[in-house]
Amino acid sequence: MTTALITGANSGIGYETTKALAALGWKVGMVCRNVDRGTAAAEAIRKETGNDQIHVFIADLSLESDVLKVSSEIKKWTEVLDVLVNNAGGYFTEKSLTAEGLEYTMALNHLGYFRLTLALLPNLAENGRIVSVASAAHRMGKIKIDELENPSTYKAFPRYGDSKLANIFFTQELAQRLKEAQLKITANCLHPGFVQTNFGVQTKPSFESRVFGFLNKHLAISQLDGAQTSIYLASDPDGSKYSGLYFDKKKPSKTKKNTEDEKTQKELWTWSLAKSPGVKGLGGIHPIFLD
Ligand SMILES: NC(=O)c1ccc[n+]([C@@H]2O[C@H](COP(=O)([O-])OP(=O)(O)OC[C@H]3O[C@@H](n4cnc5c(N)ncnc54)[C@H](OP(=O)(O)O)[C@@H]3O)[C@@H](O)[C@H]2O)c1
Repeated sequence: MTTALITGANSGIGYETTKALAALGWKVGMVCRNVDRGTAAAEAIRKETGNDQIHVFIADLSLESDVLKVSSEIKKWTEVLDVLVNNAGGYFTEKSLTAEGLEYTMALNHLGYFRLTLALLPNLAENGRIVSVASAAHRMGKIKIDELENPSTYKAFPRYGDSKLANIFFTQELAQRLKEAQLKITANCLHPGFVQTNFGVQTKPSFESRVFGFLNKHLAISQLDGAQTSIYLASDPDGSKYSGLYFDKKKPSKTKKNTEDEKTQKELWTWSLAKSPGVKGLGGIHPIFLD
């Protein structure tokens, strides 16, 4: 049986992705941060799809301690994972630091993907797929290694763009290392479109968030439409032909200039590893991913 894990699975794009994969009869794990929201979403998906092989895991993915805890629970649930969809993320008006001392947007949107992927790599099946939800907002992002942990100035949308650019650099570097390790696992990322979800809803009201809310209400596509590229990369036979690419509307697409800068890809990887000592210390990860 095909097994998939989706993060941020109780809402928006993650919910629709989970539902579509459950409808294929797959065994599906949902990583959510809130027990009630996670349980209610799983129940709705069970009812709609008739699939009862759905399990909810609870974790705050901005924290390495939670990623370590949830990855060990996931390994007990399944020894082999066919598809990992890194989707949990958000945009936050106010700067905050996690209990582990890292700026929250980067800790959740980038390190959440990086840490969970590395922790689960030993369990990824041959021909497995890693799908990461990035964004066209990467175009306003910049990777300045000194500013990743705790930026000296904080502007919500540019910071969100930085974290989504990090998703792209991460995917490219991961795909390269998977190839070097001769692992038959693909890694791709995507822009889902401008999608009407809870994205940005829980942040403190601001001018930016009001403009965003207005545009979201009037211009955004449905959650189901927004999940299509994630579903395609997770389940379509064509989706496994590619690795290291950025997709939009189910097609490989161009990222902003200089996103294939190998030096920055490696520096980001080195920084991410340094901020993930617990994950780095886990057994079973191929050495190619650990330097
Ligand atoms: N919507 C868009 O237009 C758009 C465009 C480009 C890219 N994206 C990307 O799409 C992805 C999904 O977002 P969405 O639009 O579907 O928004 P959403 O409806 O807010 O879904 C985000 C999901 O992430 C979960 N989450 C948030 N913080 C978390 C944490 N600390 N630990 C674990 N899970 C956490 C949320 O859980 P709760 O329900 O408990 O908050 C929710 O399940 C994000 O990576 C986002 O950057 C969205």
